[in-house]
Amino acid sequence: MPRYKIVLIPGDGIGPEVISEGVKVLEATGEVFGIELEWETYPYGAEYYLKTGVLLPDEDLKEWEKWADAIYLGAIGHPEVNDTISLHGILLKIRFYFDQYVNLRPVKLLNGVPSPLANKGSNEIDFLVIRENTEEFYVGLGGHAKKGKNSIKLDLWRRIYELKFDLDIESDADEIAFQLGLVSKEGCERVFKYTFDLAKELGKKKVTSVDKMNAMGYIYGYWRSKFLEIGEKYPEIQKEYILADAAAMWFVRKPENFEVMVTPNFIGDVLTDLGAAISGGMGFAPGANINPSGISMFEPIHGSAPKYKGKNVANPIAAIWSGALMLRELGHQEAHDAIIKAIEDVLVKDKVRPIDIGGSSKTYEIGDAIARRIKENF
Ligand code: IPM
Ligand code: MN
Repeated sequence: MPRYKIVLIPGDGIGPEVISEGVKVLEATGEVFGIELEWETYPYGAEYYLKTGVLLPDEDLKEWEKWADAIYLGAIGHPEVNDTISLHGILLKIRFYFDQYVNLRPVKLLNGVPSPLANKGSNEIDFLVIRENTEEFYVGLGGHAKKGKNSIKLDLWRRIYELKFDLDIESDADEIAFQLGLVSKEGCERVFKYTFDLAKELGKKKVTSVDKMNAMGYIYGYWRSKFLEIGEKYPEIQKEYILADAAAMWFVRKPENFEVMVTPNFIGDVLTDLGAAISGGMGFAPGANINPSGISMFEPIHGSAPKYKGKNVANPIAAIWSGALMLRELGHQEAHDAIIKAIEDVLVKDKVRPIDIGGSSKTYEIGDAIARRIKENF
């Protein structure tokens, strides 16, 4: 029986509530499909940081590297902790440390979820977004410079390179704040290769790349040229590129236009919230941070929603679906498909309905119903 060790980080706010439903459903799936999951729970999050001053120790990352098969995370964030501290110190730290350069975010309207777009149903709203997950404006490089001479040193560590910037800024503006964005040859090539390979494997006909090359030509022009270059190796797949603002419009006007989309980091962050909105809301938006040859992390794309903490009103489907993505990444496509089917069965046939789509079911009732369906369906 295949056996996996999973790092479990329930995190903050509604994170623990939705993650325990995820664990419940994954365990039920494991029983049906003969997959053994072993959970190692860690307390990290903004709330833990408030209590202890500890974010996420490097030693843990090194430990996980030795034995973990995947990471399953709820949500990070607390109103009393500056987001840049908790997110950089935990969530982004994991993404970068494990070099999870693919952020896979399905935009798929499930059967049983009311469509927020007029005349669009689950046939029209069904595509994959692959968000590059380690570069562009997310490298976290930048600073402030005051009037006069400024000397600023910046370092960037990634598995694929190490960069040092030594900046001399002479300014007659009172003060500036700046943020550097960058993409690299290796960084672009690997995410495009992943995207085209996945499109091919799934029998998709078209890949759409998004950029904002008309306004930020250095990085997005490079991005686009690498997309076309790597794309040449996949003659059977149609290549299309569009600007980010136009992409936002087409998400709403003609989502059926998209099959597989690849986006730079920040653009993908914005577009996938829109993707969540057109597929029923954040309660239905799963995510996977993937390193195809390393340790991947699975998390719903919603945040910790502190005001709903402990009330059992959150929709756990995004977290459960993220768990399904984890099983698929571990090689269990059938188990993944069974979870999606069970979710749809519950939404279509059962009286159980999450509050965010007008129902009144509690978080755990939704998890219970999905776990029950998985067992009944087999
Ligand atoms: C997401 C989130 C994160 C991101 C934040 C919390 C750093 O918005 O996963 O989309 O921007 O990647
Ligand atoms: Mn986001």
